Amino acid sequence: MAKRKLILDVDTGTDDAVAVMLAALHPALDLVACTTVNGNVEVAHGTDNTLRVLDHIGRRDVPVYEGLARPLVRPDFPVPRTVDDRAGKFHGKTLPLPPTARAKAAQGAVEFLIETYRQATDEITLVPVAPLTNIAAALTLDPKLTERVPEVVIMGGGHAIGNVTPSAEFNIWADPEAAAIVFGAGFRKITLVPLDATHRALVSRADCDRLRGLGTPAGEAAAECIGHRIVAHDAAQQMATPGTTPVHDAVCVAYLVEPPVIATRKLHVAVETAGALTVGRTVIDTQFRGSGLPQCDVAFDSDPARFVDLLVRTFAA
Ligand code: RIB
Ligand code: CA
Repeated sequence: MAKRKLILDVDTGTDDAVAVMLAALHPALDLVACTTVNGNVEVAHGTDNTLRVLDHIGRRDVPVYEGLARPLVRPDFPVPRTVDDRAGKFHGKTLPLPPTARAKAAQGAVEFLIETYRQATDEITLVPVAPLTNIAAALTLDPKLTERVPEVVIMGGGHAIGNVTPSAEFNIWADPEAAAIVFGAGFRKITLVPLDATHRALVSRADCDRLRGLGTPAGEAAAECIGHRIVAHDAAQQMATPGTTPVHDAVCVAYLVEPPVIATRKLHVAVETAGALTVGRTVIDTQFRGSGLPQCDVAFDSDPARFVDLLVRTFAA
């Protein structure tokens, strides 16, 4: 069977790192490229981290295109409010992996996305697991992108849960105008994996032991990144089960190869860009009270055992 092609847009990041490894190593996936953007860490660090991850697992062939360094219309947002703080707690600026001698691609991420989709003869799924700045910029330059992308799988937002404010999730909050453009653009299919789903696929210290015990570069790196997240979450944002962490971005990649890892409902999603208390909130119309037609398959649940087994199987090879 043909592999499923994807482009992963990341702000790597401990959970992005696991997503990159899953996308690069799963035998049913063909990771065409990673694109990077401002988010968890400044974009230069995100690019360097992404290269480190790919090099560490022997995928030096996957190119990394660096994207935009600032949100679309808020030049100082989220810098300096949370980026350093967030990077320190949940990610660290530089992942604990050997440095890379490899350079990022010469072309910028936005240009790469536009050109690649213009020329594509195969379907390429777009998987943004970071602020949506690159995707919104590409859409603004080439609105036909909506017709060329078969499916967009986004990690972002939350209905019952926020993580950066009481009502907003980081990826959407960090560039709300970009997110509003993406959700309103008219893509053929959007699958949204918000905190409501990622907080159900919690990964434990025992799971990290399984991953480390594989003795592979990916197993060890995943255990290291996830272990770091568990410490950070226990200290700053404890999960329902202490000693566990969500690995948000990897759930999106897991869905590509095992769709039942999440359970979705088709709903309308909009993004709040003005509210003083609610900026960056994904307004998910669960009760069909608004006039917007459902345009997203929104995940409200996920299967932790299936998710962890997939990571272990993939990183064993
Ligand atoms: O809120 C979780 C998301 O924010 C993840 O994508 C994480 O990597 C950060 O970007
Ligand atoms: Ca991310």
